[in-house]
Amino acid sequence: MSMKEQLEQIEVAAKQALSAVADGKAIEELRIRFLGKKGELTAILKQMGGLSAEERPVIGQLANKVRADIEAAIAERGSQLKSAAEEKRVKEETLDVTMPGKAPRVGKLHPLSKTLEEVEEIFLGMGFEIVEGPEVEKDYYCFEALNMPKHHPARDTQDTFYINDNVLLRTQTSSVQVRVMEKHRPPIRIISPGRVYRSDAVDATHSPLFHQIEGLVIDKGVTMADLKGTLELLMKRLYGEDTQIRLRPHHFPYTEPSAEVDLMCYNCHGAGCPLCKNEGYIELLGAGMVHPKVLEGCGIDPEVYSGFAFGIGLERITMGNFEIKDMRLLYENDMRFLEQF
Ligand code: DAH
Repeated sequence: MSMKEQLEQIEVAAKQALSAVADGKAIEELRIRFLGKKGELTAILKQMGGLSAEERPVIGQLANKVRADIEAAIAERGSQLKSAAEEKRVKEETLDVTMPGKAPRVGKLHPLSKTLEEVEEIFLGMGFEIVEGPEVEKDYYCFEALNMPKHHPARDTQDTFYINDNVLLRTQTSSVQVRVMEKHRPPIRIISPGRVYRSDAVDATHSPLFHQIEGLVIDKGVTMADLKGTLELLMKRLYGEDTQIRLRPHHFPYTEPSAEVDLMCYNCHGAGCPLCKNEGYIELLGAGMVHPKVLEGCGIDPEVYSGFAFGIGLERITMGNFEIKDMRLLYENDMRFLEQF
């Protein structure tokens, strides 16, 4: 075979081999095989010495052309492979933005929290402050200072969990009244929401842990009319403008006079139905004019100042608000229940 034929064959062989390679490493191997110092092209060129003076430049030119052609083919194949790889990568990484995402589960406020926020908004609007007190409380604040000394019969209805003789889980948020009046001088206008505890068995309307919202207003010339007006406004905001309440005489050791406040049944509007046990009204909260003894005990002169207080059961107004029939539902944390609000 003449050198010219050999050169032409190398070019054909190199191009064929190139079309079969699949990656950069194989291309490099190929380059070494054909163009390297010990490669096939070099091997042929070494035979140039045996050529005639006329043939040498012709073959030399051809050899250069073959080298250039193979180099060009290598470069082209290299860039072909590179863009193919790039295309493949892009395809694999494609993000379908029209696919539905995984929605994170968004929480909601508990119905008790919702109602509390609503009540707090209403009182903030009337210029009240929100104050919190401890749940583990001294006997003094829970009972003693509220005119319920040890062995007072009114304690019977509020049996609780005792840490020791003088420390207990508070049975009522009324304890916060005393704490506030001890520290602050009138005018006082606060509500105090929080957990309270009683050793009650669990049923549809009782739980050993529940929530109250205490209210306290102390100033010069505060009367029962202010109490009624405040509570009426609260209930109208909560249950609608046609809501009516009534005050019934009652007894609490820390108020004089005392009253229980009932809401006209939202189910029968006073006519009597199973929900209100035919009463036409639903008992809502306790209230009254703060007892002079309680004021005095906190260093507030009952001859100068007067005030009213009330304690609302948060569960009761929440159940009314959302027509929940069983209090236990509020504590079970069953998502099927909670998702409804
Ligand atoms: N502490 C009472 C209870 O738990 C509710 C109450 C009645 C609170 C009269 C008051 C009040 O502040 O003046 O049943």
